[in-house]
Amino acid sequence: MSAAKNLNYEEFKLSQETYTKFASYIYELAGVNLPFNPKNEALVKNRLAKILRAYNKTSFEQYWMFLKSAGPAETQEFISALTTNMTSFFREAAHFTWFGKAVKTHFETLYSMRIWCAAASTGQEPYTIAITVCENIPEKLRPSVRILASDIDTEVLKKGALGYYKESEMSGISKDLMFKYFDRSTQDGETIYRVKDFIREMVHFSQFNLISEKYEFKRPFDFIFCRNVLIYFDDKTVSKVVENLSSSLNSKGYLLLGHSESGNIKNDLISPMSKAIYQRKAK
Ligand SMILES: C[S@@+](CC[C@H](N)C(=O)[O-])C[C@H]1O[C@@H](n2cnc3c(N)ncnc32)[C@H](O)[C@@H]1O
Repeated sequence: MSAAKNLNYEEFKLSQETYTKFASYIYELAGVNLPFNPKNEALVKNRLAKILRAYNKTSFEQYWMFLKSAGPAETQEFISALTTNMTSFFREAAHFTWFGKAVKTHFETLYSMRIWCAAASTGQEPYTIAITVCENIPEKLRPSVRILASDIDTEVLKKGALGYYKESEMSGISKDLMFKYFDRSTQDGETIYRVKDFIREMVHFSQFNLISEKYEFKRPFDFIFCRNVLIYFDDKTVSKVVENLSSSLNSKGYLLLGHSESGNIKNDLISPMSKAIYQRKAK
């Protein structure tokens, strides 16, 4: 182990001035708002310390100088470190009970379905969407369902696309669904679950930054899940993102936000339906 890896990073002070440089940069890159307070200071310090260690940097200021002239891979690593990827299967489960019924209703009159999971993290959410679709439509309709799973963090997208999960990452899913939609194997004495091929094939993983100026998709979506990411944005960014998401919906398409995020969402294109669910007004 190198000398730098043995250093105790608690000894290094993160000055408010350097903190502000990191916070402004992650805001510029991802819209993530980290105002200076003890909790955020500890978060930035802990998460960036791991990168400091990896690059043998001995101060946060030295890492900042490096980051300013770094290439895309190092910038991506910085984004990855300061975004929070917590997720689980069937998180905020009431949404999936609603979604299962909405899927059935959709196919009563339409023949295809486009879904976007816009902050997909390590894949548990888009796979929950795919499983819910499969539980509610006949097998022959599966090829007409497309699910785009995007995130700003390419590390989580790689994991999502592979679709391997440890036992500890399987919370939220019933034994019955686990058996139906996952293959089980053992690696080094540990049980590993892999999402079955036909489910993985329904989901396409791709990087997308929600703070992009304009969203340009060839065709609008019938359902957009953008859950538990707006909490990291300030009000100005939330309104812009909600405007762009709403514009990316089909007439009468649905936008699902996180349960704690729907408090003061106001946009003329959408109407509230039920808890954290909005519907695009008829075009
Ligand atoms: C807490 S996770 C939520 C995951 C999932 N939607 C859920 O509800 O379980 C938030 C995700 O948002 C992503 N994220 C943060 N800023 C983003 C941005 N500007 N564009 C796209 N994704 C972003 C993070 O990388 C992270 O994976």
